[in-house]
Amino acid sequence: MGVDKVWRFSLLSTNLALLHHPSTKNACWRSPAKFPRRKPIALSVVVCGLMLFVLGLISLLTGHMASDLEWYSRRFVQRTFYSRLNGFYSDPVDVWQSQYSGYYYGCSERGRHFAPIVREHLSNGYLLIATSGGLNQQRTGITDAVVVARILNATLVVPELDHQSYWKDDSDFNNIFDVNWFVAYLAKDVRIVKKVPNKVMRSMEKTPYTMRVPRKSEPEYYLDQVLPILLRRRVLQLTKFDYRLANNLDEELQKLRCRVNYHALRFTKPIRGLGQRLVMKMKKMADRFIAVHLRFEPDMLAFSGCYFGGGEKERRELGEIRKRWTTLPDLSPDEERTRGKCPLSPHEVGLMLRALGFANDTYIYVASGEIYGGDETMQPLKALFPNIFTKEMLADEELKPFLPFSSRLAAIDYIVCDESDVFVTNNNGNMAKILAGRRRYMGHKRTIRPNTKKLTALMMARDKMDWDTFARKVQECQRGFMGEPDEMRPGRGEFHEYPSSCVCEKPIVDE
Ligand SMILES: *[C@@H]1O[C@H](CO)[C@@H](O)[C@H](O)[C@H]1NC(C)=O
Ligand SMILES: *[C@@H]1O[C@H](CO)[C@@H](O)[C@H](O)[C@H]1NC(C)=O
Repeated sequence: MGVDKVWRFSLLSTNLALLHHPSTKNACWRSPAKFPRRKPIALSVVVCGLMLFVLGLISLLTGHMASDLEWYSRRFVQRTFYSRLNGFYSDPVDVWQSQYSGYYYGCSERGRHFAPIVREHLSNGYLLIATSGGLNQQRTGITDAVVVARILNATLVVPELDHQSYWKDDSDFNNIFDVNWFVAYLAKDVRIVKKVPNKVMRSMEKTPYTMRVPRKSEPEYYLDQVLPILLRRRVLQLTKFDYRLANNLDEELQKLRCRVNYHALRFTKPIRGLGQRLVMKMKKMADRFIAVHLRFEPDMLAFSGCYFGGGEKERRELGEIRKRWTTLPDLSPDEERTRGKCPLSPHEVGLMLRALGFANDTYIYVASGEIYGGDETMQPLKALFPNIFTKEMLADEELKPFLPFSSRLAAIDYIVCDESDVFVTNNNGNMAKILAGRRRYMGHKRTIRPNTKKLTALMMARDKMDWDTFARKVQECQRGFMGEPDEMRPGRGEFHEYPSSCVCEKPIVDE
């Protein structure tokens, strides 16, 4: 019943988050594998050196690229160093694990000059937050809520979850997240209370002031527009709180985001327990496994405006669902496909994975709700990878108490996807982005994002080439989309997806 709703979360938010996909350009620091295998390193050094020189000139002229340049060149020097160490140029890419993952670690500690927490009675007031959307969209809201409370020196009241969203789930914060852990973990960052003290409530003359701030507001906006109201009213509620804080903040605040997102927000014990049991079941069957967030669900497909080959029946069915969103633009399915906006079908995901080199005996966990077209759609994927599992297949009775709660089911899939050796996304929704970011932070665990723009064309031309050619081309398209450390650059994309302030390089030790 509730299950099929689970994975629709990121649907609207993809729309709302106004995410743009930086197109990946060929660049020397990006992927060492881009160099032809046997070309002497010296040539690539010269080429990159030249590019850096040109970049340097530009930065001298424009004046504001200096820090990025420094970042690039540092990366590049170290990369070359590591490449030599590993003999990377002659090794095939390990699809299961990035060879560079060991050189990085998640770093989100407070800086030495991080100001101590403002005590409750000295704080500028109580900040109430109403989050919005599905589980992962709400996660971004909660993360930013803590940061906004910090900016305002406010006491944060444990955020209220969205019960009205499309995914109807009555769960409160403490049904999903370990609230005591949340408060305790952030004790040095922000004062968090479970509710506004009665004394304060009684002393208030009016009901709490409610407002909605514009998307991606800068800290200055909060200081100029929100703080005066908070000071005047003492209790202030921010509604529809998702993506309301700017993407780029100073490093300390970005690190705070990471402390909230990757440490303080821990699921409740029952959720963690079931999630871990499913992970154990996968690990018992196979040394390592892939988790695929398929998201090939009716709503998702309807929303995309794409056509998936199901004839008149599909057009009618998806068209019907599409009416649910009154503001959707008219899209041309063909155009969307060439623009790379259409999710791959389960079959195409399977082809991509086989082409990348995953053997047919690989174990796959599929995180998804109702698959459009059901077994028939899944069959070609199962033919390529017979060992496919879902939470419904792995859990039995123990899943029952979770079934009425879409967010708790989503949390279980989140855990299994997080713990997988390789995570494959098939969309650009909130869950995909947040997990991709988290996996970078947790040591660059491999995350594969289909380069749909190029893959789509390749899939359509598949009959025109033999398997080896196809596989080689798929591997080429996927460079820069494999979750390698150097795909992350400061300022690229959404911070939740590329938490660059919270990923540090280990110092080079000469072994
Ligand atoms: C918050 O408190 C710090 C000191 O802990 C102070 O420097 C800063 O100006 C305060 N900001 C606001 C908005 O009150
Ligand atoms: C898996 O691949 C091997 C060869 O690589 C083949 O012998 C075997 O039949 C395949 N198994 C299935 C179930 O397709």
